[in-house]
Amino acid sequence: MAQEEGKVIVRHEAAEEFVVALLEASGVSRKNAEIVARGLVQADLRGVESHGINRIPSYLSRIRNGVLDPKAEPTLTQVTPVVAQVDGHNGFGFPAAHLAMDTAISMARTFGIGMVSVKHSNHFGMSAWIVRQAVDAGMMSLVFTNSSPALPVWGGKSQLIGVSPIACGAPGGPSSVPFILDMAPSVAARGKIYKALRRGEKIPLDWALDADGKPTDDPEKALKGVMLPMGGPKGSALAIMMDVFSGVLSGSAFAGGVTGPYDMSKPGDVGHFIVAIKPDLFMSLDEFRQRMDILYQRVVGSDKMEGVDKIYFPGEIEQLTEATRLSQGIPFVQGEIDALNAEADMLGVPKLRPAAA
Ligand SMILES: NC(=O)c1ccc[n+]([C@@H]2O[C@H](COP(=O)([O-])OP(=O)(O)OC[C@H]3O[C@@H](n4cnc5c(N)ncnc54)[C@H](O)[C@@H]3O)[C@@H](O)[C@H]2O)c1
Repeated sequence: MAQEEGKVIVRHEAAEEFVVALLEASGVSRKNAEIVARGLVQADLRGVESHGINRIPSYLSRIRNGVLDPKAEPTLTQVTPVVAQVDGHNGFGFPAAHLAMDTAISMARTFGIGMVSVKHSNHFGMSAWIVRQAVDAGMMSLVFTNSSPALPVWGGKSQLIGVSPIACGAPGGPSSVPFILDMAPSVAARGKIYKALRRGEKIPLDWALDADGKPTDDPEKALKGVMLPMGGPKGSALAIMMDVFSGVLSGSAFAGGVTGPYDMSKPGDVGHFIVAIKPDLFMSLDEFRQRMDILYQRVVGSDKMEGVDKIYFPGEIEQLTEATRLSQGIPFVQGEIDALNAEADMLGVPKLRPAAA
């Protein structure tokens, strides 16, 4: 079994194949299983392990508890030539978001912009995979979602609003990486606390408060308390913005009504808001790409503050991690592999195959 610093290395192809097998054995169509697997494995490749294949046990548990429909197919309603709505019918969030971005891209190709609201969906993992879908099609994008209560609003002390990521992107120039911003409005994403819990690690004291309102480095206590918004009222306002555009506008749950991926009591009813924009609306594509190059060079070429060796463009660190992991494989801890293989045993599919040593 291949090991690296105590980790088990898995090739991305094997991880995808494994996730597809688990999902198909749970009643998900091959097409939708591949979309979910690609989104999750892309998170592991980009180093966003909090939103990678380790999410599978909780997703499968939702299917077993009858609160997520594995057979649901998202449906599309065209509202105006540039506006559409997707109903996820309580299936996986990944195919619903994929259909929404696909539709937004094709509207943007014809009309310059496409906007799709998604209702009755579920958790779609890392937003960056949807931004990448747009970047790969040469489009700029906005990708918003709401999520289950985790943050107090500014001045409040109990969970009301989701740690809902705000994401957007733009294709890069001939010698720059694409711009991919994907950030939770909390000091850290809640998935990072679940990851620390799985790995038996402590968390920084400024991430969350425990149930008594005190700072804690214990992930278990943090999950019983509240996450802290980044930048105080500004992070809280961004989280509310995600709920306005993804929840209120779509007809999905909002104002604390979304059910989280680890809550097996009822459907998620998550809403998303997805926009694609053609980058060559106001100038030629060449000029846009040259201007992205100038911006990239100015950003990464900035004077560095003390202690900083290199300045990165948003999304660049994840892209570098992806390049390494595409060639060297993805590292997991044994406990994560065991939890995934327990699902394989339950469903009678082959275990996750580690890379050859
Ligand atoms: N679906 C959901 O409900 C949900 C909820 C919460 C979080 N998430 C996901 O969790 C993930 C993690 O979110 P996060 O806020 O912890 O991300 P993060 O703090 O790791 O990164 C946020 C952004 O900052 C950029 N960045 C980070 N370090 C940088 C540096 N040194 N220089 C330049 N840019 C840098 C990243 O490229 C990224 O765009 C995201 O992928 C998000 O989509 C999903």
